[in-house]
Amino acid sequence: MRRPLVVGNWKMNLTTREAAALVESFKKAVEILDRTDIVVCPPYISLPCVHACLKGTNIKLGAQDVFWMEKGAYTGQVSASMLEDVGVTHCLVGHSETRGRFGKLEVSETTLCYFAETDETVNLKVRRLLYCGMTPILCVGETLGEREAGRTDQVVRDQLSDGLAGLDEAELHPLVVAYEPVWAIGTGHTCDTAEAQRVCAMIRAFMCGISSELAASTRVLYGGSVKSSNARDLFAQPDIDGGLVGGASLDAYEFKDIVMSAR
Ligand code: 13P
Repeated sequence: MRRPLVVGNWKMNLTTREAAALVESFKKAVEILDRTDIVVCPPYISLPCVHACLKGTNIKLGAQDVFWMEKGAYTGQVSASMLEDVGVTHCLVGHSETRGRFGKLEVSETTLCYFAETDETVNLKVRRLLYCGMTPILCVGETLGEREAGRTDQVVRDQLSDGLAGLDEAELHPLVVAYEPVWAIGTGHTCDTAEAQRVCAMIRAFMCGISSELAASTRVLYGGSVKSSNARDLFAQPDIDGGLVGGASLDAYEFKDIVMSAR
């Protein structure tokens, strides 16, 4: 039996003080919930403060990215052990926004190459997190152009097989996969429930190719314009074990309602 999981990705939002205030109100709202795993992913700079605010709760701390080397001359990067040191247990990997694939493009086309994540760097990051005993949340999903070209399944399968290359069943046990169609991120266009279920089932079938036990235990989340009004339907699908929530996780009561929908 897979426990539902709801992850809030705060992206590049909130100062440390605002992050603390959000956690304080959210904490009160979810005090009684114990059947759903909850993770919040603040920006790096707020991790220590949010960790202190989460003390005494079941809410876990996640990061939005990680670098794969242990230490060294990598200006601007943060290692898995540094994250672990400030209480991080979960980490997003390969989010479409770090791959330079945006649902709503707010940067200029000429600066897109800054977001240079590849399946190879995703693989290095997943390996590093697993090696450090942390939970990678591997994000996969197609752009609108890829969907319209009928390439959704191939894109998702390639991201999975390249992102997880060389890892075996025993190593992959902690992995969480999040299906986030790029065109649904921050756009208000949620993926149709039946289609989200179909792709999440395909992700589970991919995991089944590694082992049936892994397929049965891996949690697969849906992300992309999740709100309290659509969460219940999405989370009721047999292969959707919860959500990866962006914008709506910045509102304590809205996020609480989404978490409650996952029970
Ligand atoms: P939204 O919920 O704002 O669409 O963002 C989804 C997302 O990218 C979570 O990682």
